[in-house]
Amino acid sequence: MGERGRILVVDDELGPREALRMILQDDYDVSTAHSGEQALDHLSRGEFDLVILDIRMPNINGLDLLAKVKKRVPDTEVVMITAYASVDTATKALRHGALDYLIKPFDRKSVIEVVEKGLARRADSRFMKSKLAELQQANKALVEEIERACRNIQRHFMETVSSLVAAVDAKDSYTKSHQKRVVMFAMLLGAELGLSVREMELLQQAAILHDIGKIGVPEQILRKKASLTVEEFNIIKQHPIIGAEIISPVRFLQEIVPLILHHHERFDGTGYPQGFKGPAVPLGARIIAVADAVDAMLSDRPYAPPKTTAEVREQLRLFAGTQFDPQLVELALKLDLPARRFP
Ligand SMILES: [Fe+2]
Repeated sequence: MGERGRILVVDDELGPREALRMILQDDYDVSTAHSGEQALDHLSRGEFDLVILDIRMPNINGLDLLAKVKKRVPDTEVVMITAYASVDTATKALRHGALDYLIKPFDRKSVIEVVEKGLARRADSRFMKSKLAELQQANKALVEEIERACRNIQRHFMETVSSLVAAVDAKDSYTKSHQKRVVMFAMLLGAELGLSVREMELLQQAAILHDIGKIGVPEQILRKKASLTVEEFNIIKQHPIIGAEIISPVRFLQEIVPLILHHHERFDGTGYPQGFKGPAVPLGARIIAVADAVDAMLSDRPYAPPKTTAEVREQLRLFAGTQFDPQLVELALKLDLPARRFP
């Protein structure tokens, strides 16, 4: 509050105005105003800790001025001055935020008392305000730190799970780094589609984890060169379900569970595990299906040699609307396909 409290006395009568100044000026910085307009002018040019305000004034009356002061500088304390006849109005003023009232003619003791009370309350509210600001600042810093820590945990988790999937990939693999290329191609498709930053983030996570369920498929089936028996194929078909079950308990990966579960659905509804059709298959899962198939076709697999990019384009066109979402095929055909890969 500074060395001395700043007080504004507002009264249209000279007598009480000057009496208050005399009482207070030794201990406080006192300004006076003879009307509501002049008081507002003072308030617009400087800060006051306490305003002592006559209720009966021409033009702007005390209650209206009280409302204006409280609206403009809510922390400034206001004491009303009233005559015996208007104690009712004074109590009304208290309900509207005035701290107290002085009854004319006032004595020195009650003036000092009420001023000290007002300034103490003003000091308290300033102290509380600064404490609150400090707490809010500390809280903000804490929230930022927690968010940073959460992001770190998620990043480490994704790195760990990603290397786990890479290990699964190596167990399966027609070539190494299948997962990385599926992620890359899915991201290219997503960008071409104009997905939001958040959608791209989810697509990336899902593309990384799409085959995590293969962890539950025996290696001899994954690596089998001859055609699979119906029974073996049924086991392979479990991997999106196993993957979704692995991811489900992880809270921050909830949104990608459907993408993992449906990445082997076909656009015409003949895929697995649930035979979802067209737009019923989540967009991210449709994107991963295209990216997965493109990379598989370009790679040397136990049961088929790698195709040329021209052959892959042909296959995409051929299966647009049956295996693949035709809109995604159109986008994929616009992109440069990577060269075919031999082991
Ligand atoms: Fe898969």
